[in-house]
Amino acid sequence: MKNISLSINKVFGFISKETIYGYEEKVKECASALEKGTGKGSDFLGWLHLPSSISDAEFTELETTAKLLREKCEVIVVAGIGGSYLGARSVIEAFSSSFNWLQTERKNPAILFAGNSISEDYLAELSEFLKTKHFGIINISKSGTTTETALAFRLLKTQLEKQAGKDEARQRIVAITDASKGALRTLATQEGYKTFVIPDNVGGRFSVLTPVGLLPIAVAGFNIRQLVAGAASMEKVCALDVPFAENPAAIYAATRNELYKQGKKIEILVNFHPKLHYFAEWWKQLYGESEGKENKGIYPVSVDFTTDLHSMGQWIQEGERIIYETVISIAEPNEKVVIPTDNENLDGLNFLSGKRVDEVNKMAELGTQLAHVDGNVPNIRVEIPKLDEFYLGQLMYFFEKACGISGYLLGVNPFDQPGVEAYKKNMFALLEKPGYEEASKEIKKRLS
Ligand code: PA5
Repeated sequence: MKNISLSINKVFGFISKETIYGYEEKVKECASALEKGTGKGSDFLGWLHLPSSISDAEFTELETTAKLLREKCEVIVVAGIGGSYLGARSVIEAFSSSFNWLQTERKNPAILFAGNSISEDYLAELSEFLKTKHFGIINISKSGTTTETALAFRLLKTQLEKQAGKDEARQRIVAITDASKGALRTLATQEGYKTFVIPDNVGGRFSVLTPVGLLPIAVAGFNIRQLVAGAASMEKVCALDVPFAENPAAIYAATRNELYKQGKKIEILVNFHPKLHYFAEWWKQLYGESEGKENKGIYPVSVDFTTDLHSMGQWIQEGERIIYETVISIAEPNEKVVIPTDNENLDGLNFLSGKRVDEVNKMAELGTQLAHVDGNVPNIRVEIPKLDEFYLGQLMYFFEKACGISGYLLGVNPFDQPGVEAYKKNMFALLEKPGYEEASKEIKKRLS
């Protein structure tokens, strides 16, 4: 079985190999702090050996629940935000047909997402769409109090109980939350919902391989055992005892920290495959929330190429030189499309006749890499043999492990997110939430 592979050859014009290898000792210290739980945020290291510790019984419970939901429902709404949403969505979008939502004859239930914004229009349209559907809900919130998710769930639950009756609704709702704390746990116990636990020591953005990600992915019809097997295999490839030169998480963490030191403040995650769009959203949260603190941190952004070459390509080629790219390249697509010959050749494309579309895509990828490196954009490349559950699991664990090391190299706690509270405090004060009376007075004074 192959592994995903990392190539940093195209950063050597900007930073030297020796400088990167100079990180070896520091990286080792960071990786052992993760392993021994002696670094910042060590209460949240449950993700580190999660893939290799999931038991057969846990898989079976997830698969059994998924089967029940699949039998009962043509649509499943997954309510959650941030780490309680992006992992599942990134995997489901990567493996679903691009035209999935248009299909009427379905093998798998349609998976819709809610609770990831406060858009009234979205919720109204969702409600309208669900009116004629047998739907179920997977409600995901670790704290159990997140406004976006709780609001969506209140609306969805009310609608489902009206459409299907309270007893049937109870069979079609699953809650994924803390083992004992929070409003969602209380509600689930009271209503008798099937529940799964988000472990205390796994933060939201590291939770894709807990029921948070695994249940929705299983309901969507994808192989969670393979996803976790891929991650477990990467656990070994990125383990503490693997030498620096052979450890992709170590090399990636060192390279991006050195690039940052040299003024490359923005990392662009690039794909040439739009199915990876939401994977990039997951990655952005992972790195953004983990590293953006104490006035430090690489700003993670993403583009879908070649689409965005026609919008952002100009900036990347010639804008301020504070960026570098990390390209996810898929070696072999799952489908095969050969370009036909056209006798008229009015579009001038006969030079491509007989070639696969992917050959064109690969040359676009290579051409872009050369152009961007010429334009002073260092390039990191991660190749995945093919887009399937095993390799996506590998990719996710690789980025998680590198993120832990990278955050420690930067000197921050990669496992908290104190900055996320600021907007919530203001919003609650403005909405006059009980308990926010003082803040409410202050904010009104500030706005008057
Ligand atoms: O990574 C995180 O911790 C956050 O993104 C949370 O996942 C997000 O805020 C949702 O929180 P909760 O699961 O408590 O509703």
